[in-house]
This record gives sequence, C-alpha cells and structure tokens, in this order.
Amino acid sequence: MKIIYLIGFMGSGKSTIGQGLAEDLSKSYLDTDEYIERTYQRKIVDIFAEDGESVFRYYEIEALKKINHVDIVSTGGGIVEKEVNYDTMKNNGVIIYLEASFNEISKRLLNDTNRPLWNNNNGDKKNLFNRRIPLYEKFADYIIKTDDKTIEEIIKELKNIIKHV
Ligand code: S3P
Repeated sequence: MKIIYLIGFMGSGKSTIGQGLAEDLSKSYLDTDEYIERTYQRKIVDIFAEDGESVFRYYEIEALKKINHVDIVSTGGGIVEKEVNYDTMKNNGVIIYLEASFNEISKRLLNDTNRPLWNNNNGDKKNLFNRRIPLYEKFADYIIKTDDKTIEEIIKELKNIIKHV
C-alpha cells in the first residue's frame, strides 16, 4: 500500500482523523510532530523558542524522509513550506488535504497553547492561513472538506478515496 499522507492547516484534524483511519483499517500510523518530539526529546514549542522555525523545518524534512515504514502519516501544518517535502510524499504515497475554513480552525484552536505559529501570530493568523491554502492545494492529490462533518464521515470519505489508490 502507498503511504497515506494527511496535510492541512493546524487544527484541521489530521492527527485525529489519521489515528481514527488507522484504527479502522488496522494500519500503522505516525505523526511527524510526535516523531520529531520523540527523536530529539524536545517539545515542538521549545524547538521553536530556542532554535527557531528554520531548525524545526529541517527536522521536519528529515522526519518525513525517515517515516517510510508506516501506512498513514499525519503531517505538521507547515509541511508545505518546503518543496522537498512534496517530492518525499509524492514518491512514497498519496497526499490528502483535509480542508477546513479559517472560522472553523479559529474555533478549534481557541484555547491552544502548543502551536507557536498560531499563538505568537496575533494579527497575522489570517495571512498565514491565506498564504498556506494554495500550497495545500498544490500538494494535494485529493481534497476533503471537513467543515460541519463528523470524524466518522471524514473517515468514510477517506476510505473511499484510498480504495482507488
Ligand atoms: C505548524 C504546525 C504544527 C507543528 C508546528 C508548526 C505549522 O502541527 O508542526 O507547530 O507551521 O503550521 P499541526 O498542524 O499538527 O498543529
């Protein structure tokens, strides 16, 4: 089976949906952020605060290359910032974009404290969102709209898509 990569903005449900899909299909699952935290024994927030975003992006590129032994991978929202990540994912599998509106994301991340690019971005959240959307669209083989859908509905759509890949 090709690797199923889930991409999308922070709070779009990549981890929840990825885990749910993996359980449903009895497949293996990994999240790039979790892999980074485990490999470097540091929290994402600390990597951002102490070393900055560029170091995190380097870790993320390496993590994505190394994670080639699992069936379903949920990626960090900024995976689309580096073109090389497209090559890695395209060579190993199929890329599915979980699309969510800015309003929906804002609601979901209201009390979040774990995402430096969301929490430290005061006025610029919408700009980041708007800049990222065309990148997700460019990377995606398939797009699933997630607003107003239950986790079960989204997983069902995903299962339909991956039947054909
Ligand atoms: C980021 C998204 C986060 C995490 C990091 C940077 C981003 O992952 O990788 O905080 O640049 O959008 P989630 O999309 O899982 O929140």
